[in-house]
Amino acid sequence: MSVPDSTQILLVCLGNICRSPMAEAILDFKAKNLGLKVKVDSCGTGNWHIGQQPDPRTIAVANHHGVPVNHRARQIELLDFERFDYIFAMDDQNYRNLVLLTDKEEHHRKILKIRQFDPVEPGGDVPDPYYGTDRDFQLVFEMLNRTIDEFLTQEFRINN
Ligand code: 4NP
Repeated sequence: MSVPDSTQILLVCLGNICRSPMAEAILDFKAKNLGLKVKVDSCGTGNWHIGQQPDPRTIAVANHHGVPVNHRARQIELLDFERFDYIFAMDDQNYRNLVLLTDKEEHHRKILKIRQFDPVEPGGDVPDPYYGTDRDFQLVFEMLNRTIDEFLTQEFRINN
């Protein structure tokens, strides 16, 4: 088996149509612009939206900030715990569900809440905007944008 020469990062929410595809798009966009060797994907812990495009409000807010979105929803699978180096949960509910899916300590070590890197208010949830407004999607974008900047700074020692 070949050894991957890039850092593999998985973003996880519930439906994989609002928060995690937005986080995937932001991280992929920034990593490409910085020339980093990173592979990014997203998925959901739930199965309701498998195969669907991201929510139109996720696409709109990302595109408004110049970030392209290209994803089809999929559900987490056990192989993901092997393939990825970082598995970022958007909130406590998804963090707990991810931990329950595997018994292995080496897998548990990869599972983190993404907002532990939030420089403004570390450790909280990325709130689910699905039943919210355009403003909620904008707030999720801002939260993910600064959090991903801080993650990239810490992980790759780059300055944004
Ligand atoms: P997401 O938002 O987890 O950020 O993709 C949701 C999308 C759909 C549902 C829940 C959350 N749903 O219950 O269908």
